[in-house]
Formats: sequence, C-alpha cells, structure tokens
Amino acid sequence: MPQVSMEHREQIRAVLFASPLMPVITIHHPDDAVPLCRALFEGGLRVMEITLRTEFGVDAIRKVREELPGAWVGAGTVTSIAQYRQVEAAGAQFVITPGVTEAILDFGVTSEAPLLPGIATASELLMGYNHGYRYFKFFPAEVSGGIPALKAFSGPFPDVAFCPTGGIRQNTAADYLALQSVVTVGGTWLTPDDAVANKDWARITEIARASLASLKTG
Ligand code: 3PG
Repeated sequence: MPQVSMEHREQIRAVLFASPLMPVITIHHPDDAVPLCRALFEGGLRVMEITLRTEFGVDAIRKVREELPGAWVGAGTVTSIAQYRQVEAAGAQFVITPGVTEAILDFGVTSEAPLLPGIATASELLMGYNHGYRYFKFFPAEVSGGIPALKAFSGPFPDVAFCPTGGIRQNTAADYLALQSVVTVGGTWLTPDDAVANKDWARITEIARASLASLKTG
C-alpha cells in the first residue's frame, strides 16, 4: 500500500500548527473571496479552508493564493480525485475531505498538495492510518461524539492528531483545544452568513480577533 511521505506529514503538521482556528469558508459571490479572506487574515487567522460547496470555490482558492501570499489556503469539501486535481492546479496548499475512500487516500499519497482526510469512526481512521496518515479532520465532530470520542480515539491511536470541525463554536473551541490530540479546530462560526451577505468585513475581522483572544483568556 502506498504510504504518506514524511514531507507530506510535515507539511500538514505545519499547516495545522500555524493556527489554532481554521475558518471553513463557502463563497456565494465570487467577489467576496479576497476581502473575506483578507478580513480573516487581518484578524490573525493565517490558515483557511475554502470549500467546494459552491461553483466559486476553485476560483476563490486561485485568487486568494494570488492576493494573500502570507496565508495558508486549503481546499475543503473535496470529494473526488477530479476535484483534488482542480484545486491543486488552483494552488491549494492542502486538501481536506469530509470523509475517506481508498481512492482518495491513495491519491493523497502521491499528490502535490498534502491531504487531511476526514474521519468520524475508528474504521475510517484505521483506513487512513494504514496509509501512513497521522493527521485527520474529525467530522462532523459534535454529532460524532465530540470531545469524548476524541479522547477515546487516543487510546488505540496515541500518535494521531486532529482538526475537529462540525458544530464547534467560539465558546466550545477552547474545550476541544485543551485535548492533547487536538491541534486546531475549524468551523463556520468565524464567517457568519449575515456578515458575509452584508460584506461586513470589519465584523469578520473582529470575530476572528475575539475568537483567538478567547482561547487565551479561557
Ligand atoms: C465543515 O465542513 O467543517 C463543517 O461544515 C463546519 O461545520 P460548522 O458549520 O458546524 O462549523
């Protein structure tokens, strides 16, 4: 079975350790991508997941990579190898999937952009583990058992670390981050729909700042 290279593992590790919070971004209007990501960046968030949940995702990745060279820009909601190729071509620095298939796990081993596979069960984790993956998205975190589930995974998989997402909010992020196996947490609370619809970029910056600050003050 093809195995994840040390280089890929280090790249994903660097991405995850670069920020305790990872906004999960969906672009509904193509012109929003750069100002929205800039607002997050100015609020202190350096790592972002731009999802393919709309047709604008790939182009948004390309533009944000050009305009915000200091940010780490990953592609999220990648569900096929065709999409994996598209986001790599657009410059995605890492790729996140909501779940795993053998085909995607295999592709992620040889791809240019490293993969953060999404898992919700021990069996899915084991599929990735056997390919040499050691960093996973835990999704959907809250409904899949949340913090107790993550603690339980650390028994059989003590050398695995996670980015949980799904149902996490500003007031629960710190509880997740208190686990040794959690490196960063992701979510959409950092980009509320109404703020984005109103192009209220200052509010997005403020939410990013406040969310980071609340991790320090507890
Ligand atoms: C994801 O893909 O990570 C989730 O959709 C984020 O979940 P949330 O909307 O509950 O933050």
